[in-house]
Amino acid sequence: MTQDELKTLVGQAALRYVVPGEIVGVGTGSTVNKFIEALGSLRHQIPGAVSSSLASTERLLALGIRVFDANEVGELAVYIDGADEIDGRGFMIKGGGAALTREKIVAAQSRQFVCIADESKRVRVLGRFPVPVEVIPMAARQISRRFAALGGQALLRLKDGQPLVTDNGQHILDVSGLQIQEPLAFESEVNQWAGVVTVGIFAHQKAAVCLLGTARGVETLSF
Ligand code: A5P
Repeated sequence: MTQDELKTLVGQAALRYVVPGEIVGVGTGSTVNKFIEALGSLRHQIPGAVSSSLASTERLLALGIRVFDANEVGELAVYIDGADEIDGRGFMIKGGGAALTREKIVAAQSRQFVCIADESKRVRVLGRFPVPVEVIPMAARQISRRFAALGGQALLRLKDGQPLVTDNGQHILDVSGLQIQEPLAFESEVNQWAGVVTVGIFAHQKAAVCLLGTARGVETLSF
């Protein structure tokens, strides 16, 4: 099976976690796009969604799914999103699509995080994928130096030769060379550095379940 087929498989498998009558939290990325396509078939069974990015909002609206502002609604039953890496405890790296801050907000508003991913995302230790960090632009250098002191190399993410600007008007640093043995402590530490908006380690908002697309079909991992 191709990676694209595995993404379709887990996107469809995630439908069984959508609670009829309840608003669903929706992530961002190519795997979630498959979920959004599948969600079209349930659009009459749910009031709508809370979205983690302008890109996902556009796709949801195009399918006739109402999108609520996070402030309009209370706790969500479930948040469905992809990951760049997931370890054996449900800790993740996210933000390859630059939507990490809103993803973490919607995840924090939800009772259960259901991660959908193909098996290439499964790792023993987080860090092979460069850790995305959304930063206030004026702090980018200072934050890069702090990562260098930890052995990481921070690169400003570019788009069309210019710094990428997130949905929140900020920049992204991609930090390579880290081996994150203690994701909870790492997330807590980096999050309190001045100028960090969000670090793309999802340990405090980890996955409760991962639907992993493998050559043998969808494996359900519970953490
Ligand atoms: C978006 O900012 C990310 O957190 C995505 O969830 C992550 O990059 C996974 O994306 P893909 O499903 O496209 O691999």
